[in-house]
Amino acid sequence: MARAWAAMRTHISDTRETSTMHIEPLTCSIGAELSGVSLADAAHDAGLFAEIKAALLQHKVVFLRDQPISRADHVAFARRFGELEDHPVAGSDPDHPGLVQIYRNDKRENYENNYHSDGLWRDTPAMGCVLRCIECPPVGGDTIWVNMAAAYANLPEEIQRKIDGLRARSGIEHSFGAVMEPEARRRLAEQYPPAEHPVVRTHPETGEKVLNVCSFTTHFINYHTPDNVRFGLDKTPGASQLLNYLVSQASIPEYQVRFRWKPHSVAIWDNRCTQHYAVQDYWPAPRKMERAAIIGGRID
Ligand code: SIN
Repeated sequence: MARAWAAMRTHISDTRETSTMHIEPLTCSIGAELSGVSLADAAHDAGLFAEIKAALLQHKVVFLRDQPISRADHVAFARRFGELEDHPVAGSDPDHPGLVQIYRNDKRENYENNYHSDGLWRDTPAMGCVLRCIECPPVGGDTIWVNMAAAYANLPEEIQRKIDGLRARSGIEHSFGAVMEPEARRRLAEQYPPAEHPVVRTHPETGEKVLNVCSFTTHFINYHTPDNVRFGLDKTPGASQLLNYLVSQASIPEYQVRFRWKPHSVAIWDNRCTQHYAVQDYWPAPRKMERAAIIGGRID
């Protein structure tokens, strides 16, 4: 356990200046604030973009304040990482496809207040996201990000052994579909059938092992082996208890950073090794966010 923590901390250096920006870590585990840099410039400057990406790989989520950039620059910056994707339920800005509007006005909607990795219900979940605050409540509406490589590294060894090779299914039907009429829910599930992914993934750029189940995950699909299941009780509720235990790791504060929004603040996260939770303590105050999600690859 001590080894796992030590390994994790080597990824986080002290406050650092590069030739172009100041990097201030926000916790020992995840998150840094970048200052002295404009995303509108980085959208058109490969060198600056590369520095931001390096900080992102190191800190997993990076934050920037005071970015009054245009929607076109928001999209142009995010597209430096890759192509963008719309969301089947949340709409996008009509003039900027790929810029999803997460607007919470007078209607109470509870989609973001659970720990999740964006699009784990897809075969190719998002690689990362660039989220900008348009309007936020005077207090409340923070977002929490979690280092899921730390969550994996600190699991007891017998659990790491048990989940090695396990695969799980994640879906959209029971989350975004839950408030729909049955027919609309059936159509959503047909259009976006559940995806199967390894419970432990390897980050394609850093090589870190990452715990890869979240609130979209419904069940393991290869748990029922003679080693794991002697009697029905081992499968139900045994497998569900193991899944709940793994999903609950995201709620451990030592793996988290919590960010308080202001208008024009931006968060950029690596969705391949983090989960996040948008705290919904502000309703009925409005909160408006715009998010560019970058299409990811298949998880092996
Ligand atoms: C999301 O869940 O992708 C959005 C998070 C937020 O609105 O803070």
